[in-house]
Amino acid sequence: MHSPIFVSTLWAGVASALTLSPRSVCSTVSFTVSVTAQNGVYSGVPDPSNAEEIVSYVAAIFTGGYTSPVGSQTVSDSFTINGLYCKPLLAKSNKLQLLVHGLTYNKDYWVGLGFGNLYNWHTFANLHGYATLAVDRVGHGSNPQRPDPFNVVQGPVHIETLHQIIDQIRSSTTNPLGRTFDRIGYVGHSYGSFLGVGLAGQHPDDIDALILTGYSSTLNFTAAASFNFVPASALLPERFTEPLGYLTVGRESDRERAFYADAYDHSLPPADYDSQDTASDGEVAGMPTLFQPAVGFKKPVLVVTGVNDVLLCGQPLATCQSILEASSQLFPDAVHFESTAVPFTGHDLNLHYSAPATFERVNFFLDHYL
Ligand SMILES: *[C@@H]1O[C@H](CO)[C@@H](O)[C@H](O)[C@H]1NC(C)=O
Repeated sequence: MHSPIFVSTLWAGVASALTLSPRSVCSTVSFTVSVTAQNGVYSGVPDPSNAEEIVSYVAAIFTGGYTSPVGSQTVSDSFTINGLYCKPLLAKSNKLQLLVHGLTYNKDYWVGLGFGNLYNWHTFANLHGYATLAVDRVGHGSNPQRPDPFNVVQGPVHIETLHQIIDQIRSSTTNPLGRTFDRIGYVGHSYGSFLGVGLAGQHPDDIDALILTGYSSTLNFTAAASFNFVPASALLPERFTEPLGYLTVGRESDRERAFYADAYDHSLPPADYDSQDTASDGEVAGMPTLFQPAVGFKKPVLVVTGVNDVLLCGQPLATCQSILEASSQLFPDAVHFESTAVPFTGHDLNLHYSAPATFERVNFFLDHYL
């Protein structure tokens, strides 16, 4: 058995010899951002106080009733964005991975919902020398604000918010991290990946390497319809007090079918359902507009998606591989594009037994390209 005294003495020795921090440390950080964005204006929008209208509006988007925005409106607001920031033991000095979660999740996705280090993105990346920052997107997680779900919590606001956070990280030592980073790898999951593509298109110099997990350029809307989104505050009033346009997956079985497949710990989906976050009706309405080519984005791109991901890939392996390869069409100017289909794995890659293989794939890529 090791003694804690020996461990701390050892690390103290390493730290003084290499002038590095003594161990991987995580802390919560809080950004304040002023955002101006051009959000979409849509026709036939639901009455924000009518749950039934909201449910059928969102269901229609997934079953072929999608309509493009009829215009745009300027949204200007200030947001508090909370994050979990983890520093590595042996730092690759200036390199940060920015982790952005998908719909109905928050930054806890990246710690594997607390199910241990096997599923913890931060731990793996920190051991490989990267600092990591997982943020709660506007309207979600531990953030104090719950803005208008349809008019404010939309893709353009998320993209501008991420742009402002990156700007602070690159330019100001008075940012909440207390230092700057000049090499930033963006790592998205699902809707967080869709936003990464949008950010890459609109602010091509923000990101030095783009990692898209749970992603392809082909979203299966039929499969997505099985979310059966319902207002979170109507379903679980003891947990949610948000306006009705903040939605969540109504049934645990639907959630498991959409997000999990093949090789995973079956005690995860119930805990996942019990801790689920929300999707706003504005996020869902604008989702199809995020599948635009990131023209002018010149940096390397990696797509990593589960073979059994019913939303964005699909069996057999060769089919999934060709879907992922075809996603390179959205990156006409990228210097480099790679994709990997992870076998025995559904949409939530980090929550499957293959998680360490996914982590290794991404960190190996970043070692070469970030
Ligand atoms: C889309 O998902 C549905 C339902 O899961 C499935 O039946 C269908 O085969 C999928 N379509 C494609 C093109 O993969």
